Amino acid sequence: MVRAKSWVLKKHFEGFPKDSDFELKEVELPKLKDGDVLFESVFLSVDPYMRPYSTRSMKEGDTMMGTQVARVVESKNPTYPVGTYVVANSGWRTHFISDGKDLHLLPFWPEKIPRSLALGTIGMPGLTAYFGLFEICKIRAGDTVLVTAAAGAVGSVVGQLAKIGGCKVVGCAGSDKKVAYLKQIGFDEAFNYKTVGSLEEALKKASPDGYDCYFDNVGGEFSSIALNQMKRFGRIAVCGAISGYNDTVPQKGPYVQIPMLFNQLSMEGFIVSRWNDKREEALKRLLKWVVEGKIKCEEHVTEGFEKMPAAFMGMLKGENLGKAVVKV
Ligand SMILES: NC(=O)c1ccc[n+]([C@@H]2O[C@H](COP(=O)([O-])OP(=O)(O)OC[C@H]3O[C@@H](n4cnc5c(N)ncnc54)[C@H](OP(=O)(O)O)[C@@H]3O)[C@@H](O)[C@H]2O)c1
Repeated sequence: MVRAKSWVLKKHFEGFPKDSDFELKEVELPKLKDGDVLFESVFLSVDPYMRPYSTRSMKEGDTMMGTQVARVVESKNPTYPVGTYVVANSGWRTHFISDGKDLHLLPFWPEKIPRSLALGTIGMPGLTAYFGLFEICKIRAGDTVLVTAAAGAVGSVVGQLAKIGGCKVVGCAGSDKKVAYLKQIGFDEAFNYKTVGSLEEALKKASPDGYDCYFDNVGGEFSSIALNQMKRFGRIAVCGAISGYNDTVPQKGPYVQIPMLFNQLSMEGFIVSRWNDKREEALKRLLKWVVEGKIKCEEHVTEGFEKMPAAFMGMLKGENLGKAVVKV
């Protein structure tokens, strides 16, 4: 018998999440039936979407949502022999039983590439960067691209893909260490949005002619300011709005219509699953670029399943450089 640990949402978050909003539970898993597979989680992802989606689609007492890289430890399903690795969407659990549906196999994973990247650059965040940049921003060589939360899971891939696409890239992040990292991985300009005297001046200095594309991961005040620095016919991909995820009262700010109108901008929100039909092809490309060294990957790894809430809250505070994951 296997005892599985899981983290549940004990109390809906009010404002920034707290330790007491989470509860660690332990259950004994039943024996496998024909077709079943027993998995153990190896790496679990902590992502910003868990904060807004906990309110939208979870009840108190539910297991925290999320994905993991998991390994088969016992199997009554020939598609998943013992030792097989998958990406699953089974929430914050150490072990789980699956009937084999809705799993993504990691079949041809090169030995030298950490499997945890299937939760980051070669997984959902990498795909978000890929589709947001190519399908929404529709980048062209020579464009100037601005990206926020640039040193994170999505942002760091956005910047590197835009460089592959022949663009000039400007990134903003919340610490000097992150800014140094952005320059190291090829961003043309980068600044710490928390310490610059004026965001407007910093954006102007980084690109005096303005921006063709804005990959918006944060929303809020920063985006209101950035909107005024878009070039004519500029394209804005609204990927995330993390600056508002913990707000109890929605932010108010300058409204978008005037800059949208006079610069004839396009702004489109998107959710990565829109392109599920192109997922495999995009993952192959991302994997190839990683193997070739054209995309560098950084991970912020927290050790221990018990630290899932701390890793999640740390990511929301900006403690992560690159993708935040937990190693069980
Ligand atoms: N549309 C989609 O399908 C989709 C898919 C995946 C992710 N997303 C969105 O993309 C964004 C980035 O996600 P990720 O997984 O790559 O996370 P991440 O960037 O790895 O981690 C979150 C980062 O957000 C920054 N941040 C936190 N609070 C902030 C604030 N008030 N203002 C500005 N920045 C803040 C922090 O970096 P700093 O130190 O730089 O502040 C933190 O490290 C999120 O908004 C997420 O919801 C959207």
